[in-house]
Amino acid sequence: MFRLPAGQAMTAPAPRRFSRRIRQAPAVRALLGQAAAFPLTLAATWLLARAGVDMSWLAVALLQGAWAALLAWRAALAPWWRAIQFAFPPALLLARGLADAAALPPAVFLGVFIVLLLVFWSTFRTQVPYYPSGREVRELVTGLLPARPLALIDIGSGLGGLVLALARARPDCDLTGIELAPLPWLAARLRAGVARSRARFLRGDYERLNLGHYDVVFAYLSPAAMSGLWQKAVREMKPGSMLLSYEFVILEREPDRRLVTTNGRKILYVWHF
Ligand SMILES: C[S@@+](CC[C@H](N)C(=O)[O-])C[C@H]1O[C@@H](n2cnc3c(N)ncnc32)[C@H](O)[C@@H]1O
Repeated sequence: MFRLPAGQAMTAPAPRRFSRRIRQAPAVRALLGQAAAFPLTLAATWLLARAGVDMSWLAVALLQGAWAALLAWRAALAPWWRAIQFAFPPALLLARGLADAAALPPAVFLGVFIVLLLVFWSTFRTQVPYYPSGREVRELVTGLLPARPLALIDIGSGLGGLVLALARARPDCDLTGIELAPLPWLAARLRAGVARSRARFLRGDYERLNLGHYDVVFAYLSPAAMSGLWQKAVREMKPGSMLLSYEFVILEREPDRRLVTTNGRKILYVWHF
């Protein structure tokens, strides 16, 4: 599935580090928290039943949510996880009730789950969901590119909007997007085919790609990804290259430039190597 420029190879992640990162992902820890809360809920429900307290399903779900929220607090997960953990079991119960009331077949849930899985894929691990950057960012990036042929990559290219726009604006450049999630990647490939664009879209993890092959690396990720990206960029990016990050700053080094988008709301950060 990967088609990389000549001489470029994807590297396999170190297996132990990779599995540790999955175990430490907040969503995985939250899931384990719900699992750990379950026997506590069972025990409390049993004790209450013995004491003559008859609990409704909603009360049991709220109890499960309360245990899970407590465990999220003990595990020092970010504060919003407490709310998510508390609301999750009653939300499940509600969804089940609505499905029964509307007589929805289970296949509907399976279908929605599969679509969400194909769109969000490894978001539980990367903590970088899909949301597109807008026209203003494309204009800023186009204006920043030096007037010579160069290779640019959008790491986490989503539906490919930025790369396709740059391919139209700069036919002299080599433009690539790499995307982890299958459905956005497929959409970008199809868009490139329909538009007969030279833009290339790879499916894979940018962490396994050598950034040293590019003159410009564009990222629109999330605060959770920035430190790792900086360490990788320092190791791999070549002298004279440029790292661009939309909205999210890298704390390790002061950006060389800050450009505000034309709608004045967000910043494009620039680092020169
Ligand atoms: C905020 S969206 C940005 C989309 C696009 N760059 C744009 O500007 O419209 C981030 C994308 O990065 C993808 N992503 C996250 N981690 C990734 C990784 N390690 N390798 C490749 N893609 C990744 C996500 O699936 C998501 O589609």
